[in-house]
Amino acid sequence: MSHSSSASPRMKPATWYISMLIVAFLYIYLTAIQYIRGEELPVPQTVRQSLHARAVREGFGGSKFLSKQGPINGPTLGFEYHNYDDLTSYLRNVNSMFPNITALYSIGKSSQGRELWVLVVSTSPYKHVLGIPNVKYVANMHGNEAVGREMMLHLIQHLVTQYPRDEYVRWLLENTRIHIMPSMNPDGYEVSKEGTCEGAQGRYNSRGYDLNRNFPDFFKTNNARPQIEMEHVKEWLSKIQFVLSGNFHGGALVASYPFDNSAKSMFQSLSSSESVTPDDDTFKHLATVYSTNHKRMYQGRPCKGQSGFKNGITNGAKWYPLIGGMQDFNYIWHGCMEITLEISCCKFPLAEDLERYWRENKESLLRFLGESHRGVRGFVHDEFGNPIEGVGLKIKDRDVGFKTTRHGEYWRILLPGRYVLEAYHDNYEPKEAEFYVVDDRPTLLNVTLSRNSASPGQYGQHSVPARDVIYLNQPPKGHPPPPEAPASGFFNFNRIMNTFFG
Ligand SMILES: *[C@@H]1O[C@H](CO)[C@@H](O)[C@H](O)[C@H]1NC(C)=O
Ligand SMILES: *[C@@H]1O[C@H](CO)[C@@H](O)[C@H](O)[C@H]1NC(C)=O
Ligand SMILES: [Zn+2]
Repeated sequence: MSHSSSASPRMKPATWYISMLIVAFLYIYLTAIQYIRGEELPVPQTVRQSLHARAVREGFGGSKFLSKQGPINGPTLGFEYHNYDDLTSYLRNVNSMFPNITALYSIGKSSQGRELWVLVVSTSPYKHVLGIPNVKYVANMHGNEAVGREMMLHLIQHLVTQYPRDEYVRWLLENTRIHIMPSMNPDGYEVSKEGTCEGAQGRYNSRGYDLNRNFPDFFKTNNARPQIEMEHVKEWLSKIQFVLSGNFHGGALVASYPFDNSAKSMFQSLSSSESVTPDDDTFKHLATVYSTNHKRMYQGRPCKGQSGFKNGITNGAKWYPLIGGMQDFNYIWHGCMEITLEISCCKFPLAEDLERYWRENKESLLRFLGESHRGVRGFVHDEFGNPIEGVGLKIKDRDVGFKTTRHGEYWRILLPGRYVLEAYHDNYEPKEAEFYVVDDRPTLLNVTLSRNSASPGQYGQHSVPARDVIYLNQPPKGHPPPPEAPASGFFNFNRIMNTFFG
């Protein structure tokens, strides 16, 4: 307010009064303009230094003026278990009480006809905002592992009620679209029993299939018959480019990261050994964010009859290898970084323990989602500024690729360092771009591709890129292509194997 004049003692009272009015009006007007334009959204000191505050301040995702309206408390949500009907009505209630920060959709029905609900929590729940990352949590794919299912409901409740009050939650909702699926196996849940800590009653879908062994596998042929729940998830992943994901289980206390499977034979893998991804540093970091924000997981204490895990994290295959797991599928086919969270030694503990589980997991659940704002992101355009869909992207020396969305967007979570982004498309000249990632905000990197010299009509399989290109979200041979992903491209299995295991 340097321009506001201090009243001169010789001014007449009326003049003084009028000038103060004008000054006050100007001040309010300018402030309002600032808010309306979304400039310089004031960020409280408490979070000023954090990654998230930096991101807000630097305008990743366009902060909006905060509405103070809306119900303060959500629908009633006790620490008790919710069967399918209760779960459905909770989700419907929360959606109707918070219509502009939630959207409820179903990705399809289970084999017994129950909806596979997903609740989106975001300030733009119905519409994808350009450049904003989509993230997800999926719980209860093993129907008898029930804690995650309830944690999802409490997370939803926390997000919607804290949105007007909590700086971090508000930042998250304004800059991220969070998709939460409390149950991927609602049929299995219905036949599971509270208080049953072990066993497999309710683990499988109603046809007896383990959904976490049902996905296409990169390393080995998966002979399990594809189940409808898995097919719905597969289709969902092909429609939305998720950047980060957590998948909740019970029966252990650990954050497990890809790969779950390895190229080793059954015999070799009897002595489980690590099966590391080219993004091992990132995955270890993501798992560590969950375990260290958890009240106990990081301590690595074993559940009864198991061995402990250093820092509460493990490579999936090192724990035990499995075929057809969901996290490997997310990462290899879609470039989505998913980890598996085992959050309770007892698979279906008594409801009286749920409050304690919520206290243990709350911070982890919130912090993990923020990790989607780490690394690099941007757009790929042609020379005329049009977005290019389906550009194969890969970080040099990390041979698991990803692709641009139909708006030309991409995201990749990376730790601080120097990297090179490689971009390939049949119709364009390949391109490399060097960039740096810092700790406290995502790096924005747009790439412009120019048409290659081949004349129109000669594109496609005849245009050979300048170098050996790999992008793994092309389906490996021998698997049906995921929907919407044309099975062309240049998948090089041996090169991948050499990179991973050479
Ligand atoms: C929510 O809706 C109200 C009107 O009901 C509107 O004023 C407000 O801006 C909306 N908030 C968001 C975040 O969209
Ligand atoms: C990157 O591209 C997006 C989308 O076209 C645009 O909004 C943004 O300003 C560009 N950023 C830079 C640094 O050029
Ligand atoms: Zn499980």
